[in-house]
Amino acid sequence: MALTATMSRRLFAALLVIGIATPALGQVQRRAYEPPATDTARSIRAEHGMVVAQEKLAARVGADILRQGGNAVDAAVATGFAMAVTYPRAGNIGGGGFMVIHLAGRNEDVAIDYRETAPQAATRDMFLNADGKPDPDKSRNYALAIGVPGTVAGLALALEKYGSGKFTLAQILKPAIDLARDGFIVTDDTSDTLSDMYRRMSRWPNSAKTFSHADGTPLREGDRLIQGDLAGVLTAIAEQGPRGFYEGAVAEKLVSGIKNAGGIFTLEDLKSYQAVIRTPIRGTYRGYNIISMPQPSSGGVVLLEILNILEGFQMSDMKQGSAASLHVMIEAMKRAYADRARYLGDPAFVDAPTQLLVDKDYAARQRATIDLARATPWADVRNAKQPHEGDNTTHYSVVDAAGNAVSNTYTLNFPYGVGLVADGTGVLLNNELDDFTAAPGASNAFGLVGFEANLPGPGKRPLSSMSPTIVLKDGKPVLVTGSPGGSRIISAVTQIIVDVIDYKMDIAAAVAAPRMHHQWLPDEVRIEKGFPDEVLTELRANGHKPVEPLGYSSANSIVVTTSGLLGAPDPRTRGSEAAGY
Ligand code: GLY
Repeated sequence: MALTATMSRRLFAALLVIGIATPALGQVQRRAYEPPATDTARSIRAEHGMVVAQEKLAARVGADILRQGGNAVDAAVATGFAMAVTYPRAGNIGGGGFMVIHLAGRNEDVAIDYRETAPQAATRDMFLNADGKPDPDKSRNYALAIGVPGTVAGLALALEKYGSGKFTLAQILKPAIDLARDGFIVTDDTSDTLSDMYRRMSRWPNSAKTFSHADGTPLREGDRLIQGDLAGVLTAIAEQGPRGFYEGAVAEKLVSGIKNAGGIFTLEDLKSYQAVIRTPIRGTYRGYNIISMPQPSSGGVVLLEILNILEGFQMSDMKQGSAASLHVMIEAMKRAYADRARYLGDPAFVDAPTQLLVDKDYAARQRATIDLARATPWADVRNAKQPHEGDNTTHYSVVDAAGNAVSNTYTLNFPYGVGLVADGTGVLLNNELDDFTAAPGASNAFGLVGFEANLPGPGKRPLSSMSPTIVLKDGKPVLVTGSPGGSRIISAVTQIIVDVIDYKMDIAAAVAAPRMHHQWLPDEVRIEKGFPDEVLTELRANGHKPVEPLGYSSANSIVVTTSGLLGAPDPRTRGSEAAGY
């Protein structure tokens, strides 16, 4: 389906209202990122263990667990629960995500899929209007958009299977419960996003109340945010395990809140939710092993496809950030994102040719279609329609003293999800089902086009772009990375890997460097500020269309060196921190 000009305008207006389109989000919180000079970006050192996250209190919770002898998984789970309290726009227990783990002692890599699922009552046409056309309002702004949350099941599974065994779930949850019950001081960053999102949450007065003063105005920087209901839900999980969330009183409150708001999911949908342990997708890049997230994320497949194409170019001969270097990256991205649109979806429903897509011979064939002097128009890459943009997710990286590593990305989809807090729970709910394709050829809020493989269906998981990734050399982690940013996640992770491996950049410089992104459709290169004019002029001369802004990403990463850990909290995020010891 092509969005007509009128629909595009209507959709853009709707995005403005909910604060997803760039101008509304941009004024305060999303002021265009100005990259520092790369030689001034400094990574943070730690000797033993480190958590790099988008929110400092949660990063410190994880680092404390490491200090007490916990492993990277213990710390990652503690950080994940803490961030559900301290970073409500993306940290969550009402959403879902993916965790990639490297277990040093067992020399094993695993992935935990705790993506939200569509309820059993979902249908393939659930996001169409009466005329059979995609209705973005339904998939983004109303309770129909809520997927069955996976975070509690996923974090608990990670702890049970891969934690050190030194901490119970209740012990790991205690810092999060304390932060919810006693409160914490709202930062400028949270205050700005709260005021942006307040109108959206105010559609459900009890949701807005969670983040308001008694007079109904949103909390501001310096106020204390106390989340008593959320503390109660976290306590139920501490006492009963995931059943405290998926069954019983909490589940009843969640289902009734969602039903009252027009959603369709049931107690049975909650009770039957399962996080899944998956084999990560693996590839190589110039002698390094890349371990990333398999479907239902497109992240790992698309990342490997891009890297495989790039491997055939001598990137180090092209200056970092030069038009030549950017050109081949853009062309590789275009081809890989086109395959994403066509083939990928929930592996329980779709038999995608992933082995072919990450095959080096396939990459060689793709590479052969790249003209080094001209951009390939999207229609010559493959066939489809138009897009848009939006965001919010959060990524953190953890490494412990034993060499275990965790790369975790989780999300509510939009900032503060759909904006609904089920009464009496304090749990903000996601609008993840917008990551489905409403109809073949339609695009989601990130402008990602999809086809049959990613149509909604009962019990199906929407295709994601989240790409938690661990890079190994000789079996040991050397880089742990990932990012929020919807479709822009995969391109951000690609550029960090290329900057570290090909351009030997310090991790802080790699994270700070301006990023660009091409996702096949729309046929344009989204860019951050910081690329020299002459580079942009050359890209234009080669047929590319560089367009600002890129939109949000925040690649909180760790590099492991022989002399310790180097952490890079992304400078795009106010309040991010590398907490280590
Ligand atoms: N909700 C964004 C993603 O999963 O890609």
